Amino acid sequence: MDKVTLNIDGLEVVTDKETTVLQTALNNGIYIPHLCYHPDLKPTGVCRLCMVDLDGKVVISCRTPVEQGMVVKTRSPVVDMVRRINIEILVANHHVTCRGCPGSGRCALQKIMAYIRIDRKRVRRLRPAKEELPLDNSNPFFDYDPNKCVLCEICVHTCEKIQDGLKFVGRGYSTKITFFGDSSRCESCGECVARCPVGALIPKEDVVFQESPG
Ligand code: FES
Repeated sequence: MDKVTLNIDGLEVVTDKETTVLQTALNNGIYIPHLCYHPDLKPTGVCRLCMVDLDGKVVISCRTPVEQGMVVKTRSPVVDMVRRINIEILVANHHVTCRGCPGSGRCALQKIMAYIRIDRKRVRRLRPAKEELPLDNSNPFFDYDPNKCVLCEICVHTCEKIQDGLKFVGRGYSTKITFFGDSSRCESCGECVARCPVGALIPKEDVVFQESPG
């Protein structure tokens, strides 16, 4: 496979031509905040958190193919500002009660908040006063907590490749995921739960997931 050399935060890296800036950075131990990226899925670019400075322009790194001689900065005043706005909007619409959350400790949102040094008190003031939504426990294998969902789409696109059962319902920040009451389409492979970057999909106690067919 053809190789290209690019510079990320002052580090020269050599990578395959058919890859993206985000993948290359992560493969080389350089962290770029991301929520909707998964290496087995086509990048959707929905979270808008993986932005970087590319030769003076702000781009989404998960959808930017590498090119010979690129100069990438994972942080800059503009990148930090835009990323902060995006994460604050997300957090303001998310119930960030990490205490007791099953995703706590492995949560990608916690990691990004620490990286950006989000002021939780400020964000709490931004949060719209809304009722917590009920837990959806209709699936026999896992529960879905819409309050914790960051709408990264990873679970839906993962399921699309296996059984195509999980779908979106609603619009904007009111979007939820659902099997529309037909959980018989769920293969209980557990991939959606394993790939959830936060604590929105929670395995039911004593459930042993089947091995994924795909
Ligand atoms: Fe690139 Fe979400 S990881 S937009």
